Amino acid sequence: MLDKARGLPADQIFMDIEDAVAPIAKPDARKNIVAALNEGGYDGKVRVVRVNDLTTHWTYRDVIEVVEGAGANLDAIMLPKVQTAEQIHWLDTLLTQIEKTMGYEVGRIGIEAQIENAMGLINVDAIAAASPRVETIIFGPADFMASINMKSLVVGEQPPGYTEGDAYHYILMRILMAARAYDKQAIDGPFLQIRDVDAYRRVAERSAALGFDGKWVLHPGQVDAANEVYSPRQEDYDHAELILDAYDYYTSAEGGALGAVMLGDEMIDEASRKMALVIAAKGRAAGMARTKTFTPPES
Ligand code: GLV
Ligand code: MG
Repeated sequence: MLDKARGLPADQIFMDIEDAVAPIAKPDARKNIVAALNEGGYDGKVRVVRVNDLTTHWTYRDVIEVVEGAGANLDAIMLPKVQTAEQIHWLDTLLTQIEKTMGYEVGRIGIEAQIENAMGLINVDAIAAASPRVETIIFGPADFMASINMKSLVVGEQPPGYTEGDAYHYILMRILMAARAYDKQAIDGPFLQIRDVDAYRRVAERSAALGFDGKWVLHPGQVDAANEVYSPRQEDYDHAELILDAYDYYTSAEGGALGAVMLGDEMIDEASRKMALVIAAKGRAAGMARTKTFTPPES
C-alpha cells in the first residue's frame, strides 16, 4: 500500500499508525512509515502521518519516532480524535522541540485535526485557531457516529429511521464554519463500502456541495470519483471564468466602469465575482481547461 500510493492521482497520502494498525503492530508501522517517507516517490503529494490520539500512551512515541526519523520528508501530522485546543498546543510544542533538536525549519510541519466526537465538535473553533500549524479540519464519521450513539452501522449513509433531511448536516456545517472562519481546509472522512463507488460519489456530493475541499479515499477505486466530485462541472467552471472576464471588462473604463451588468440573462456584480472566484479556483487547482472565452460587445 505504501508503494502503490506513490502512483495514485491523489493530492495527499496519509500513512496510519492509528485505527488501521493493530496495537502490537504499531512499533513496526512507525519504522515502515519512516522508511517509506525517506525512500520518497510521493512527489507532488502532501505527505501526512496519522498518529494515535492523546487518550492512548502511543502518541508521544509516534510523533518522536516519525518526525525525528523522517521529518524532512513529511508535511503534516494528523492528530485523530482531537477534543480541545490544548491537545493541539501539546503537538505544536512537541513538533517545535523536535524541529529545533533536529535542525529542521521550525513551524514547517503542519497539523491536521480530526474531529471525531462531541467534545471535538463543540470545541472546533478553538481547535482551528489553536496554532498556525493547523492546516486542515477533518470529519471522522465512523468514530463520530459511535461517539454520539448514532443508531447505524453504515458510515456516511442516513441512519435508518431518519427520513427527513441529512443527519450529518449540522456536523459538516459546524466543521466547515470553523475551517472557513480560520482559513483552513475542510475535509470529509472515509466511506467504507469501498466497492460501491456510486455510493461514495453520492455521499461525497453532499459535503462537496456545501463547500468542503475534499474527502478521504480508502482504495484506489475511489480516487477518480473524489477528484471529479470536488472539482466543478465543466459548464460551471466555464461560466465562472466567463463571469470573471466579463466583470473585469465592464468595471474597467473601457467597459463603462459599471458595477452591476447583464451577462446574458443574468445580472452580475461584485458578489457574483466572489462566487465565480471560488469555482474558478477549484477548477484551476484541478487543472481544468476553459472551453469558452468572453468577447466584449462591439462598440
Ligand atoms: C475516521 O477516522 C473515522 O473515524 O471516520
Ligand atoms: Mg476515526
